[in-house]
Amino acid sequence: MKTITAVDDLRGKLKKERQMGKIIGLVPTMGYFHQGHLELMRRAREDCDVVVVSLYVNPTQFAPSEDLESYPRNFERDKKLAKSAGVDFLFYPSDEEMYPNSHLTFVEVKEMTNRLCGISRPHHFQGVTTIVAKLFNIVQPDRAYFGQKDAQQAAVIKKMVEDLNFPLHVIVIPTVREEDGLAMSSRNTYLSKPEQEEALVLSQSLEHAAEMINGGCRIASQIKSEMQEMIEKKSLVDLEYISICDNNELEELAFVEGETLIAVAARVGKARLIDNMVIKA
Ligand code: PAJ
Repeated sequence: MKTITAVDDLRGKLKKERQMGKIIGLVPTMGYFHQGHLELMRRAREDCDVVVVSLYVNPTQFAPSEDLESYPRNFERDKKLAKSAGVDFLFYPSDEEMYPNSHLTFVEVKEMTNRLCGISRPHHFQGVTTIVAKLFNIVQPDRAYFGQKDAQQAAVIKKMVEDLNFPLHVIVIPTVREEDGLAMSSRNTYLSKPEQEEALVLSQSLEHAAEMINGGCRIASQIKSEMQEMIEKKSLVDLEYISICDNNELEELAFVEGETLIAVAARVGKARLIDNMVIKA
């Protein structure tokens, strides 16, 4: 595995691979790898000839009040894990490399970024789409891998790829969970033991919603209110939203029908956690 910090260097290496007809897979990350990240890398390894993982804590997707400074980092550990997952190129650029002084251009997907997490994080998705568009232009992958854990992010990136004609396939991998059901996240490291236990209510509330739907309930408000009741019993969990929406443009639904996304977000201690489930009703 080669670690590369310069855009031009990575471009040069990938140009050669592309000329040999190799299929290139990209896994964008912010590091502090867990099994969720490693699963994306494993899938990319299975599908592609060349696997590129980017590791960059992107400042433009954090609001000034958010955890950019304290976001967990451990490059040496990540490097070993990426190597053991069979990654070919680990792209690890500096802020100067990604955002030189006069960076004035941003990519914005409208409407669907104002919903769900966009309500409390109004500039977040513009930062995500800008960095991901830059990575797509730098790497020019045939396939790019994202996690279902960040359902809105995956939907927004799919829309950007469609709207801007990026010539690549977006592959979305199911959420990897701890044995107890907690969705893996780099931010879980912020949780104390009691917070971790109470955070389980998020995946449990989604399971409860699935049971209600399987039992024939289709009324979104009824499902949301039972989920809310479960979550509000946990004193360490501060609910931000519950959304029941269509899984493409994320429009809120009154009735569950077709492919429906059920998503929750909550603050637990210092962490802001999200989780979701897609249900075909
Ligand atoms: P990060 O949070 O590091 O996540 C990198 C990728 O791993 C994302 O596609 C995310 O959805 C996926 N992922 C995280 N936890 C997962 C889990 N438990 N199961 C499956 N996949 C999981 O998401 C970002 O970084 C950034 O916003 C990024 C896309 C890199 C742009 O900066």
